[in-house]
Amino acid sequence: MLVNAKAMLQKAAKEGYAVAQININNLEWTKAVLVTAQAQKSPVILGVTGGAAKYMVSFSVVTEMAKAMVKSLGITVPVALHLDHGSAAQCDECIEAGFTSIMFDGSHYPIAENLAKTKHYVDLAHTKGMSIEAEVGSIGGEEDGVVGAGDLADPEECRQIAALGVDFLAAGIGNIHGVYPEGWLGLDFDVLGKIRDVCGGIPLVLHGGTGIPVEMIQTAISLGVAKINVNTECQLAFADATRGYIEAGMDLQGKGFDPRKLLAPGYDAICRVVQEKMELFGSVGKA
Ligand code: 13P
Repeated sequence: MLVNAKAMLQKAAKEGYAVAQININNLEWTKAVLVTAQAQKSPVILGVTGGAAKYMVSFSVVTEMAKAMVKSLGITVPVALHLDHGSAAQCDECIEAGFTSIMFDGSHYPIAENLAKTKHYVDLAHTKGMSIEAEVGSIGGEEDGVVGAGDLADPEECRQIAALGVDFLAAGIGNIHGVYPEGWLGLDFDVLGKIRDVCGGIPLVLHGGTGIPVEMIQTAISLGVAKINVNTECQLAFADATRGYIEAGMDLQGKGFDPRKLLAPGYDAICRVVQEKMELFGSVGKA
């Protein structure tokens, strides 16, 4: 059964670890994440961008696939199905489709508008038993067409948005979607500490989880981060493994072109990345 993400993230924040949000793109991705979470006895969040949902046909196709897969694979660890960086229209669609969690990303609006729009979705999500994430400041870089300038969040704005009753909060602290560029300044722990101090203990979310050094992950968790999003790293691992298979000519041997064989190294690579992240974030055995 899919659950909302509130209880799993409150437990993580209390016990000092983080739950991975792994973004999914297709059936192989979803299966790799679920099978690995079950093997590691770890809670997990399946992240879905609007672009990924469109690729998989629709949010309702994703919901039905995730629900059926959890059931047919006998998954017993807590799994949340979460909209990543949602617009208002995408939040509406996910509520209708049966997602268990949404992110309303109003970070590109002036703060008063972000607060008003977020409040609407907090109330709506909660009447449906769903959890909700909001964003202040912005995550740098680009993810599925969502572009952010990488503005540091203002702790006072974070306090105001947390006070609306959001269940977890993403705040820009120098994090970037995609691979970190040469000369990246790192995460701003001063700002993160200030946000933690004024937000009443709500779990904080670190986007841009690909390529953040181990010590920074550990410091972030010690300052209240309880959810870390990873997308690009699985994509790179999948592409590398698939390239290796083809460059070795494996697709030309026997029935090596069978998609179940061709996609297997990429699937295994995703499983490895997810396991590594669960170990690094400390969620292994916490289900
Ligand atoms: P990366 O693609 O950098 O791992 O970021 C993922 C993310 O933050 C999803 O919202």
